[in-house]
Amino acid sequence: MATIELINVEKKFGDVHAVKPMNLTVRDGEFVVLLGPSGCGKTTTLRMISGLEAVTGGQILLNGRDVTWERPSDRDIAFVFQFFALYSHMTARENIAFPLQAQGERREVVRQRVEDVSRLLRMEHVLDVRPGALSGGDQQRVALARALVRHPAAFLMDEPLGALDADFRETMRAEIKRLHIDQHATTVYVTHDQIEAMAMGDRIVVMSDADVQQVGTPAEVYHDPANLFVARFIGSPGMNLVPGRYVRGVLHLAEGATYKVPDAWAPSLDAATRGDGDLILGFRPEAATVGVDSAIPATVYATDLHGGYTMLHLELGNNTIIHARTTREAKYAINTPVRFDLDPAMVRFFDPATEAAIIPEVRA
Ligand SMILES: Nc1ncnc2c1ncn2[C@@H]1O[C@H](COP(=O)(O)OP(=O)(O)OP(=O)(O)O)[C@@H](O)[C@H]1O
Ligand SMILES: [Mg+2]
Repeated sequence: MATIELINVEKKFGDVHAVKPMNLTVRDGEFVVLLGPSGCGKTTTLRMISGLEAVTGGQILLNGRDVTWERPSDRDIAFVFQFFALYSHMTARENIAFPLQAQGERREVVRQRVEDVSRLLRMEHVLDVRPGALSGGDQQRVALARALVRHPAAFLMDEPLGALDADFRETMRAEIKRLHIDQHATTVYVTHDQIEAMAMGDRIVVMSDADVQQVGTPAEVYHDPANLFVARFIGSPGMNLVPGRYVRGVLHLAEGATYKVPDAWAPSLDAATRGDGDLILGFRPEAATVGVDSAIPATVYATDLHGGYTMLHLELGNNTIIHARTTREAKYAINTPVRFDLDPAMVRFFDPATEAAIIPEVRA
């Protein structure tokens, strides 16, 4: 079991910051996901934790011990890559046993551990098969088993499901999660897929441009994004963001439409704008309800049927399109004028200049 602490850890390649000074504590038994678009520094962060990449600044502590300059093999951390390499001339069993044999474990111990881990991953039936004859999902199971069999203090996983097709991803996602619940091994997991991050993480570290944007539980990054980047990146589609001008409790939107902000928000917004200034209103698709007597006018731009629900694309004027989630029965023709209301507990506000969320003094 392990805690991992990053203290001002950074990486520069020449003049380019791959990871800006980063602070993060991964608690014992926690499953932390590094999430962000391609090139934001996820893999580099993971490689620094493992010791495969040297830091250019800061400290890494494992269980409180400074391992910043220790070799990867001395850190007791297992690394699972996206493009796992299995030995093609060995059976699954031999592949899994390999790291233990390399450590010089006794035959009896090796046999027992391989058995235990393959039972855990429900792969006993493929143990005597060579990788070439296994499906992608089973190959990934072998790779996982090979990492698990060592009983390392912590796991680092870099997009381990990236190469699998959608069905397998979902199955393996659930299996990795169950495995984590069973074993409680401290895990840092990298993905650029926000759905995967939301499904798997105890906490999510949202990264962009070599920098941490927010660290929070899935609910926190979804409901209370720290800034516009997180608001857009989390959710599918992302948070609706509507620019407006705030004057004493009322947000003036495009084409004369207005939105009276919830009373609880008014003091914070007065303070942020000094009573009169630009703001961005944010809300999730499920916060909007279309109704006859509703406040905000819009026009139906498109409708997506999803089976379980319908996603309306509504045009608010000034080319602002928002998404509103309605029941699966709802049917609206294109260009129909509608009105919608917002759940006051689910509206958020952002400062367009800094892009930061405005923190309410009193939560609505
Ligand atoms: N060895 C290297 N030399 C120079 N630049 C590098 C090196 N490794 C990574 N970089 C740069 O550092 C930045 C972060 O790369 P990194 O691989 O950590 O991103 P990532 O978030 O894992 O992206 P992806 O989702 O595409 O895997 C990128 O701009 C990348 O080009
Ligand atoms: Mg990467």
